[in-house]
Amino acid sequence: MLPKLRILDEKNKMLRTVSKEVTFPLSAKDKKMIEDAMKYLEMSQIDEYSEKYNLRPGMGLAFIQLGVPKRIFVVVNEVEEGKFERYVAINPKIISYSEELIYVDEGEGCLSVNRPVEGIVPRYARIKVEAQDIDGEVHTYRLREDLSVAFQHELDHLDGILFVDKIDSKNPFRGKNNMRAI
Ligand code: NI
Repeated sequence: MLPKLRILDEKNKMLRTVSKEVTFPLSAKDKKMIEDAMKYLEMSQIDEYSEKYNLRPGMGLAFIQLGVPKRIFVVVNEVEEGKFERYVAINPKIISYSEELIYVDEGEGCLSVNRPVEGIVPRYARIKVEAQDIDGEVHTYRLREDLSVAFQHELDHLDGILFVDKIDSKNPFRGKNNMRAI
């Protein structure tokens, strides 16, 4: 069954909130929301369900997109057909990043942005992130390529930033030659 989630649209000003640090232990409600968000993302990436429920495939969701201003996001990455890797990041911080920049050639997407948006969103090719898990344990993640982009996209949500904000409105493809397309 598809978890019932109400995902806020970009028109909703709550998405502009800077989310607050999370304290432990997590509430049962927060744990459920983490689980639901991961399940939703996973199902959205499976053709059968995305068709059945008319879902746009998504790789990440931040709590603020569900109307909860806490520094929590989840990312679900399909590593091979039907096999998914799940990440939960609580109070995440970028520890270091590469000089090299990349951008998603087909454009970034967001479950809160329900319209096509063209343009380049510069992202670090590689990042090192420190984040807590649901038990409060700190983990370090070394991320590259699309996972690096997904984490940066979700980290931005925690600060009230949407990917569309990072596109130069006068020249959406500015800087293209200084970055690598992925
Ligand atoms: Ni998003």
